[in-house]
Amino acid sequence: MELIKLDNISKFYGMGDATTVALDNLSFIVEKGEFVSIMGPSGSGKSTLMNIIGLLDTPTHGSYLLENKEVANLSQKDRARIRREKIGFIFQTFNLIPQLTVIENVALPLLYKGASYVKRMEAASKVLKSLDLGDREYYLPNQLSGGQRQRVAIARALINKPSLILADEPTGNVDSKTSENIMNILKDIHKKGNTILMVTHNPDLAEYGTRVIHVIDGQIEEKNRSTQNKKKATKKTNKKAGKK
Ligand SMILES: Nc1ncnc2c1ncn2[C@@H]1O[C@H](COP(=O)(O)OP(=O)(O)OP(=O)(O)O)[C@@H](O)[C@H]1O
Ligand SMILES: [Mg+2]
Repeated sequence: MELIKLDNISKFYGMGDATTVALDNLSFIVEKGEFVSIMGPSGSGKSTLMNIIGLLDTPTHGSYLLENKEVANLSQKDRARIRREKIGFIFQTFNLIPQLTVIENVALPLLYKGASYVKRMEAASKVLKSLDLGDREYYLPNQLSGGQRQRVAIARALINKPSLILADEPTGNVDSKTSENIMNILKDIHKKGNTILMVTHNPDLAEYGTRVIHVIDGQIEEKNRSTQNKKKATKKTNKKAGKK
């Protein structure tokens, strides 16, 4: 089933001579349950693409079908509702609210949904425990390490049980051990049947995806992965047996 269908999407910023074409007639389909890695040079339009798919921004032209429903030109209010119901965001910069504790940050999306205080806290606590942050619930974000903050941001993205996870450089600010950790969390989420779109500059991390695309000058170039996973197959098998 097609979850996302972008048709000739363009996004312009600014006007007249100062216009930037961030996305240039881009078309793109994501099937439900895919894990798509998005690569490409700085300024090529990756975050703009994520923001449009995540309904944080609207395209200048083009059609965007989300679950077969046109969403390109919905009102702010309708977009916010769909975001709350279906989409979880993980940003490189975490976007945690510094004045709120870890558990309050994670519970926040449920507040917008109208869940009771007790329900919100219970749900937040559960997801924090699953990410190994059970003992940090009442810390403030600035009392955490970068990797812990990133896991809090992931917890917050997951609390609504969104079927679509958008991760814009989710491991941009953490060390390689933590980034592996985060990738394994995303892998688990994907295994449960959720759809993931992840922007990364790291080709090794892109390999976690079931598909890799490149955004170049606001357009998509699909990369064929068939040659990439064959290392194992060509590995020499040295059978010592029988040789003396
Ligand atoms: N709010 C904005 N106003 C004007 N121009 C913008 C705005 N947001 C993005 N752009 C421009 O659109 C282009 C694409 O930006 P975008 O953030 O999508 O790139 P990116 O691929 O995510 O880059 P990076 O890898 O550095 O994060 C850039 O040229 C950028 O300057
Ligand atoms: Mg970006």
